[in-house]
Amino acid sequence: MSVICPLHGPVLTENLSYYIGLYDCWSKYEPETDGVFIAYASIHGGTAEAAFKMAEILKSKGVEKVTVADLSRDDMAEAVEDAFRMSRLIVAASSYDASVFPPMYDFLHHLQLKGFQNRRAGIIENGSWAPCAGRVMLKMLEQMKGLDIVSPIVTIRSRMKRGDIGPMEALADSILK
Ligand SMILES: Cc1cc2nc3c(=O)[nH]c(=O)nc-3n(C[C@H](O)[C@H](O)[C@H](O)COP(=O)(O)O)c2cc1C
Repeated sequence: MSVICPLHGPVLTENLSYYIGLYDCWSKYEPETDGVFIAYASIHGGTAEAAFKMAEILKSKGVEKVTVADLSRDDMAEAVEDAFRMSRLIVAASSYDASVFPPMYDFLHHLQLKGFQNRRAGIIENGSWAPCAGRVMLKMLEQMKGLDIVSPIVTIRSRMKRGDIGPMEALADSILK
């Protein structure tokens, strides 16, 4: 009988080809699912609104798999898992003390530690007087290998307005291209 004894995790005795297939995919940093994962960090809800609007736009463009996570409340390990699982990532966060709202910083730091790579990524920032979350998220994403960071970076001022829909549509198109 063949057995896999992983360094971390249970001893595997059945469905070995299934586990070997997963290992092969993960070890090459390939996505498992063609879809978009939207991770947001919002203080008052304006960025959350933009994240769900982006999900709606993507679905209207025919994307079947769109997942949204609230980084302030949802499980961080699950969010990291979703980022690796999906082929595309959109990060959306509020500006905070001339930087980015910390749950997003924490999430991107986790991705850096885990060697997140080879994905297409997009950015939505929110800020009231001096939006800066986008710059911080861009810098962190740029440090990861093989990320295709698409334009435009969408800037929301406090709450989404009618004029933000055009840039949101443009970001949706470029994340899907
Ligand atoms: C503690 C704190 C710090 C903030 N720092 C900034 C900042 O540096 N630059 C800025 O433009 N807005 C800053 N803001 C404003 C928020 O980014 C802004 O209200 C944004 O709309 C919040 O998005 P949200 O509705 O998703 O929370 C700050 C807000 C708080 C509460």
